[in-house]
Parts: sequence; C-alpha cells; structure tokens
Amino acid sequence: MKRENELVKKAMEAKEKAYAPYSKFKVGAAVLTESGEIFTGANVENSSYGATICAERIAVLKAVLDGFREIKAIAISSDSDELIFPCGICRQVIFEFGKIDTIILCSDNRGNFETHTLGELLPYAFKLKEDKNTNGV
Ligand code: THU
Repeated sequence: MKRENELVKKAMEAKEKAYAPYSKFKVGAAVLTESGEIFTGANVENSSYGATICAERIAVLKAVLDGFREIKAIAISSDSDELIFPCGICRQVIFEFGKIDTIILCSDNRGNFETHTLGELLPYAFKLKEDKNTNGV
C-alpha cells in the first residue's frame, strides 16, 4: 500500500496529543480514508477508567463525523518498543467502517511496523448486514 510510512508518522505525531495521566501509556492513530484523507486520534483517559477512549476510535469517529465512512488503512503507535495492536473494541469499530482487507499498520516507537489486514485481526467479525464479508477462517 502507498502512504504507509506517512500514515505511521502521523500516528506517531498524534500520540503526543494523548491525555493519559492514569496509564501513562500514550497511543496515536491515523486513519486513511478510501478517498485519501487522513484523520488522527490519540487516547483520552478518564478518572472513571472505563470511560477512556482509545486513539483508534477517536481517529475513526473523527473521519466518520466529517463525512468519510470508508476506511482504507489505520496506523497505530505508542511509546513502546514493541508493536502495538488495536484492542478488541477498536477492531470492531474499524470493521464497521472498513472491510476485511482494511490495512492495520502496527508500529513501535521508532516507526517500524507490521502490516496486517482487519480480517487477520478480527476473523468472524460481528455483522448485521449481509453485504459485509467476514473472514471466516
Ligand atoms: N489504548 C489505545 O488507545 N488503543 C489500544 O488499542 C489499546 C489501548 C489506550 C487506552 C488507555 O488509555 C491506554 O492505552 C492503556 O490501556
């Protein structure tokens, strides 16, 4: 996929905007829409921990609310020297506006990344509509 490095860099930059006073674990995300726009997000925590919102969901929802409902790819980054993968809830939210071949770029704090598809990370995804292909592997 083109623009992979750009998307990972945007996720790394977005991470700096995280509000993570409780976990101290800053996460950044950058969504590439099918029409080529990029939307970024970072995690926003809450003293009622369950109210915390992940970076990926913020990036996806910003795109959706600006009228872009088709996600081609999403990059995720953190301060960890290990690759970061999206949590289960975020995988399902990405699926709502993505496809089984939506690309997930899982990166580390130096910008190294692994490329996965959503179908690999969320096989048998929950769906209501018949026209969505789940990856029933
Ligand atoms: N977090 C994300 O933003 N994305 C993920 O995929 C995993 C976890 C955030 C939530 C919380 O603010 C912190 O990382 C620690 O769980």
